[in-house]
Amino acid sequence: MASSMPGRVTGIGLITGSTGYAITQLPIDYAQLTGWTAMAAGVGMVGGGVVTWHTSRRATTSHINRWSRRSRRNHGVQSLTGHLKTSSSFAMRGRATALRPSLARMSRWQRIRVPVTEYAAMLGKSGGRTLYASHEDVVLRVAGARSGKTTALACRIVDHPGPAVVTSTRVDLLTWTGPMRAKRGPLHVFNPAGIGDVASTLKWSPLAGCKAIETAMRRADDMIPAASSDEREGWNDQARRILAPLLFAAARGGLTMARVLAWVSATGDQATKAGRQVESILDDAPEAAAMRETVRQFFGMSGENERTRSSIVTTLMPALQWLSNPTAAAIGDAEVTGDTLNVGELLDTQGTVYLLGGTNRVTSALTGALVAEIAFRATQRAESMPGGRLDPALLLALDEAALVAPGPLDRWTSDMGGRGIVLDIAVQSLAWLHRVWGETGARIILGNAAAVLLGAGCKDPADIAHWEALSGLRDEVSETRDADGKVTSTSSRKVPVLSRDQIAALPKFHAVVYGLGPISIIRTPNIWRRRDARRAMARAGRQVTATKFAEKLAEEVSK
Ligand SMILES: Nc1ncnc2c1ncn2[C@@H]1O[C@H](COP(=O)(O)OP(=O)(O)O)[C@@H](O)[C@H]1O
Ligand SMILES: [Mg+2]
Repeated sequence: MASSMPGRVTGIGLITGSTGYAITQLPIDYAQLTGWTAMAAGVGMVGGGVVTWHTSRRATTSHINRWSRRSRRNHGVQSLTGHLKTSSSFAMRGRATALRPSLARMSRWQRIRVPVTEYAAMLGKSGGRTLYASHEDVVLRVAGARSGKTTALACRIVDHPGPAVVTSTRVDLLTWTGPMRAKRGPLHVFNPAGIGDVASTLKWSPLAGCKAIETAMRRADDMIPAASSDEREGWNDQARRILAPLLFAAARGGLTMARVLAWVSATGDQATKAGRQVESILDDAPEAAAMRETVRQFFGMSGENERTRSSIVTTLMPALQWLSNPTAAAIGDAEVTGDTLNVGELLDTQGTVYLLGGTNRVTSALTGALVAEIAFRATQRAESMPGGRLDPALLLALDEAALVAPGPLDRWTSDMGGRGIVLDIAVQSLAWLHRVWGETGARIILGNAAAVLLGAGCKDPADIAHWEALSGLRDEVSETRDADGKVTSTSSRKVPVLSRDQIAALPKFHAVVYGLGPISIIRTPNIWRRRDARRAMARAGRQVTATKFAEKLAEEVSK
């Protein structure tokens, strides 16, 4: 290792100082003065050297050199010290009072006895290390089907100390986590797609609260999320501009979502009549003056404008498609009597809301809008709490997020963490992220996720190249041998820490963790290996099939 300037100065200082000390011991007249002077100079040089060394450690080149050395030493993967600093239970404990302001009232001794899962979630184990993500960190899980995403997410849900919103396309999460979550607080099921014949215990109409114009505008945004291309986003904007006044008018007039659908799909004379009805409701609301013109234009479109109108209607339809499903219409177009879902109560009682959506995305606008509504109310609530965050945190466990909760995740991932609303998002591939949130949206979500867990089942070459590049580089030493097998020379070259074939061959129930420093490979937890969860399931059910069990659970919930 090259000796640095501060190192040399410190060395010379040590020699000068010790020589000075030796001189003071000599039986000569002037020894005391010379010796003490030399010692003082030595101490000064050592002190200066140490200070300069300490400051230079923080210089850019020093950082980069140190990181390179560390990366070489650890072959590009997370070191023990890195783990201790970023993702260990020790690191989480250091941030406990920021993550849960209520812990600040406890003594240090009391705080040590609070389990770390009260403010952080276990991601998995890597050898003897357990990796955690704090309740501030967005977690994104990307893995193919049947790779262990849901079984890992289930563990997080049962351990979560606060209220939770759980989305899924199957009854799996309800069956696996329901019995344990029921011990923490009430369970609610919102199942517009009628998955597994589980009865809904919750009714909620997108018209709830839409008598206020700002809620109607927000709801229109939630029901028509951002498009994947700029051109389509232009149409989406137009569709939102017309949906908002229609929601507002329906809520004001005490009408239903079915009526909104009828208004949107009316043509010819029917459209003129619909326009008149909406306008007459808006006439009584001065705050909707700006919307009246939009409504008049939309319903007045005829002749050449007919094509524009039909494009807007086509864009609007996916947001209202669920009305054609009788099960969805029964719980999603329920009469709006006050607040059908009391988010404040959900947060206070540590409840769990299960939202089940179909894979065909018919109900995704409805489930997405409900998730967005809960998130919005929780955000408002957080603002009035100490530290500006919910305590305990609200978990949004969005399994199959692309299908069930296509909300504005790009926006949420940016600012929810600091408010005590913790997002754990599971999708099957990067392609799904791109399809639902567009290229920019997907990049924002990936950027905002503090921990990205890549699981098994990645087969797309573009995705694999992305994960390979993200894994970083390491040095690989290659040896050249002569005919006798003797090493004649060695050379080193840079190779990706994780190669493409390794990424493609990741085993089930394992994940590569990106984002918490250099990568780690973890074994993800599995709800089936947890005795507490299995026992709770058996006790609650003792039923042969999952469907039957979920039914019984839902029955119990609705009592
Ligand atoms: N009841 C069960 N007992 C044991 N293993 C199960 C059970 N249910 C699912 N599994 C296994 O867990 C694996 C992962 O399932 P899951 O977490 O649902 O995958 P993903 O959500 O990634 O599609 C599946 O391959 C399945 O075989
Ligand atoms: Mg799953």
